[in-house]
Amino acid sequence: MKNPWLTIPAEDYEGHMASPDVGQLQVLNRLFKAALEECRPVSVAIFGCSTGNGFEHIDTATTLRVVGVDINPCYLDVARRRFLDSLPMLELLEEDFSSGTFVIHPVSLVFAALVFEYVDVGEAVRNISKSLEAGGVLVAALQLPAPKSAPITKTRFKSLEALATIMNLVSPEELSLVCSENGLREMRQDRVALKQGKELYVGFYRKDDPGE
Ligand SMILES: C[S@@+](CC[C@H](N)C(=O)[O-])C[C@H]1O[C@@H](n2cnc3c(N)ncnc32)[C@H](O)[C@@H]1O
Repeated sequence: MKNPWLTIPAEDYEGHMASPDVGQLQVLNRLFKAALEECRPVSVAIFGCSTGNGFEHIDTATTLRVVGVDINPCYLDVARRRFLDSLPMLELLEEDFSSGTFVIHPVSLVFAALVFEYVDVGEAVRNISKSLEAGGVLVAALQLPAPKSAPITKTRFKSLEALATIMNLVSPEELSLVCSENGLREMRQDRVALKQGKELYVGFYRKDDPGE
């Protein structure tokens, strides 16, 4: 079966995520900015980077390497066009970051927001841990269950509805357990309010540093 993410045009994706009833593009943009300001990473990888949401906040004086990973090549094309001039070092990889063959040279920060819902969490976290330097940080965002709202808010962008066939909410407890099994210790967690009574869990995990 073709992954439904490959059937959703970039305009639909952004239109849905930025629509007044969803507003998640804006929240994730602020979250990425805050993660960059807090961690000031020398290198960063964004797993499920879509069209490059928030890449404009990358300070090229601090962050020398930027890797964006997504399975949808059309989203990566949009990101490439948008950031060609401002981020000349940008590496964009059309890959499934939860696959057994995925590998990148380790970075100091991995940002993975609203992607665990679409992958095998164990495989994904194993690869994230391998993609982090010792002492590196994972910032992960999960959508929490909302009793009164459907996981995928209905908007005029019908193509998004295809995601219902593969979307599985992941609990913070499950993510934290899998992270700790892979040498990633939770440092702290936040909650961020979304539209329609929904909420995001944001977890900050640090990879064990055997030298400490
Ligand atoms: C909800 S969007 C992520 C939002 C984005 N992180 C942000 O901050 O704006 C999910 C993205 O993950 C991508 N994706 C889904 N499964 C993936 C996988 N196995 N490997 C890489 N990317 C994946 C989708 O193509 C989509 O662009």
